[in-house]
Amino acid sequence: MNREKDLPTLYWKNHTLYLIDQRYLPGRIEYRICRSCPDVADSIKEMTVRGAPAIGISAAFGLVIEAGSALKSGLSTEKMIEKITLAGAELIKARPTAVNLAWGVERMLRLAAVNSKLPAQELLNRLEEEALAIYEEDVRNNRLIGRFGAELVPDQANILTHCNAGALATGGYGTALGVVRAACEEGKQIHVYIDETRPLLQGARLTAFELYHEGIAATLITDNAAGYLMALGKIDLIVVGADRIAANGDAANKIGTYGLAVLARYHQIPFYVAAPLSTIDRDLACGSGIVIEERCLTEVTHLEQCRVTVAGIKAFNPAFDVTPAGLISAIITEKGVIRQPAAEKIAALFTA
Ligand code: MRU
Repeated sequence: MNREKDLPTLYWKNHTLYLIDQRYLPGRIEYRICRSCPDVADSIKEMTVRGAPAIGISAAFGLVIEAGSALKSGLSTEKMIEKITLAGAELIKARPTAVNLAWGVERMLRLAAVNSKLPAQELLNRLEEEALAIYEEDVRNNRLIGRFGAELVPDQANILTHCNAGALATGGYGTALGVVRAACEEGKQIHVYIDETRPLLQGARLTAFELYHEGIAATLITDNAAGYLMALGKIDLIVVGADRIAANGDAANKIGTYGLAVLARYHQIPFYVAAPLSTIDRDLACGSGIVIEERCLTEVTHLEQCRVTVAGIKAFNPAFDVTPAGLISAIITEKGVIRQPAAEKIAALFTA
């Protein structure tokens, strides 16, 4: 089976968005059908679809669905824009940390503003084209990220990754896993250590699923084993994705990423962040301004439906943390590799 081709993360057909339901992977393969914008917002909130680029793409299609329902109700272009503006605000609230969500919504609303004099049907067509363009660009960018990143990967490398920054987290191919894929496509012998990534086990459930189907050699470890492996000299480099990168290069990613970066520095292991420009939030000077999502405590107190602790114990469940730019060896983007990221180098990406 070609996992990516046969089981895409998402697809768009007859004005309907289909999302592979990532809550049930790898045990059950099921697509959630989104016929309304609130369906899309719920799918993002409940993590049917997750991963920064994938939620940005889904939100863009959510607005196309909203515009379609405005047209069906016979609304004018002006009213259509009002409806998608309100729907966009709801979508952005679904998850606070990944900036790609707001980026996708804002790009769609800008397109609507520029085309506000068109008849409603015409505007709907433009919005659909724009959402498809966002989707296709993401896959293209990931391939470029992969190509640039592969240059940093030596043959025979043992790579550690955290969470899932693969095809499932994007339109396809992946960012961090895009780097792994590209290195393999170049004929390098690569082995990946996958952090299980508590509490929701995106590593164990999703990254393992992707790499296994791709035939890329991989070993699943508990999050707690990563430092030990580094001390044993078994990790050559670490590559992760990001949910929001501040203008100075501080990067938010799945909880536990910061700890890995500190361990990497101690053990002098290169630590790479792979992300498209749509993940860079130029309005935030540094990472301390990034809102960290806190999720339901049962994700910590339970494993699936099963309680693993005493009832009544306090718990804390931040979904992300911020790695300071100073701990990042390079950020890999579709425009190239930024070594020792800093504000000026990141700003230059947007002018080149
Ligand atoms: O909570 P999630 O599963 O949405 O978190 C995802 C991550 O942290 C990914 O590493 C990040 O979104 C980059 S995906 C290319």
